[in-house]
Amino acid sequence: MKRAIYPGSFDPVTNGHLDVIERARKLFDEVIVAVAHNDQKQALFSLEERLELLKTSIGNIDNVRIAQFDGLLVEFAAAQSASAVVRGLRAVSDFEFEFQMALMNRKLNSDVETIFLMPKEEYTYLSSRIIKEIARLGGDVSSFVPDVVAKALGNKFKR
Ligand code: PNS
Repeated sequence: MKRAIYPGSFDPVTNGHLDVIERARKLFDEVIVAVAHNDQKQALFSLEERLELLKTSIGNIDNVRIAQFDGLLVEFAAAQSASAVVRGLRAVSDFEFEFQMALMNRKLNSDVETIFLMPKEEYTYLSSRIIKEIARLGGDVSSFVPDVVAKALGNKFKR
């Protein structure tokens, strides 16, 4: 059983994330989309909201499961008997942070391999941070995120 963890803040999930999940699930028997409790980052959506938005956006797919995790990612991966961590790599600007994280995770647990997947080119410029900014300023984000997320953003930034 080849199991992978796809970790992130998912604040909120975007079409780019969904594209990575779709690619990962073709490579692994099971993909666990793992939402981090991240005290360092001030999230717009609560953990429960982020989980719910993911659940609705992904729907029921056989080999995709949604979970939350606290603490070290490699510990969560080991507890789930996952051999890989999947991360999306959009552009060179992602590389430095991702490289540092992958190597640090390898130092912490050399049994967990990090695998980078490139989302569709049209999602290269997408990020949750930019989506939130556009929504906050009243822009239309409906082509970048699932409908349920666009609605949730609209409710957060009601004018
Ligand atoms: O979507 P993000 O915010 O880029 O995801 C970052 C995340 C949650 C994957 C990363 O911060 C993480 O793994 N946090 C868990 C704590 C941890 O293991 N830190 C050490 C990583 S080197």
